[in-house]
Amino acid sequence: MKNIVVLVSGGGTNLQALIDSQARGEIKGGRITCVISSKDGVFALERAKKADIPTVVIPRKEYTDSKSYSEAILAELDRQKADLIVLAGFMTILDECVTKAYDYRIINVHPALIPSFCGEGFYGLKVHEKALEYGVKVSGATIHFVNEKADAGAIILQGVVNVENDDTPEILQRRIMENVEWKLLPKAVSLFCEDRIEIKDGKAYVK
Ligand code: GAR
Repeated sequence: MKNIVVLVSGGGTNLQALIDSQARGEIKGGRITCVISSKDGVFALERAKKADIPTVVIPRKEYTDSKSYSEAILAELDRQKADLIVLAGFMTILDECVTKAYDYRIINVHPALIPSFCGEGFYGLKVHEKALEYGVKVSGATIHFVNEKADAGAIILQGVVNVENDDTPEILQRRIMENVEWKLLPKAVSLFCEDRIEIKDGKAYVK
């Protein structure tokens, strides 16, 4: 059984999708052993507690820079003996001390079709605001490995939704979460735990 550690910063609907999927027996070969939050008091922590998953809070605001914060995260991941790290609405970019130590073992969910609307500054609702501002007709979400560049690691799964004329960022966000994120994130986690993701020339392929 692989140890899955989930990193969160907010409401935790993606964490909930993982918890529900695990309860249905759909995550094969792994189990969520810890939830780490970059903020105290967020609802994701309540979701973890309700599911009897141990939680750790490492507040981003208590660290002056990304490097010292990432070192604290790295120490906790090592302590947890993490086999897979899932960034589920984790709003802090991790320094390469973490991404190198856990190469191809960190999965992120990004709420757009990478390489569109991604990189530094593109997170949460901002992504959907930018997509609507541009006028794209489809959007979606990407599940990908995390490397030293923001949103640039190998893509594992992507899913698409239509953008409607009267969409607001909130409506589009919800459509993408319901139809793509909450389905594909647990699926990618299970594929990883079943050793069904192969890396060739820096790209990910599902076996
Ligand atoms: C999700 O839409 C996730 O894709 C996005 O933030 C939301 C978190 O929601 N993540 C990013 O923008 C990361 N770059 P949640 O806390 O309810 O899972």
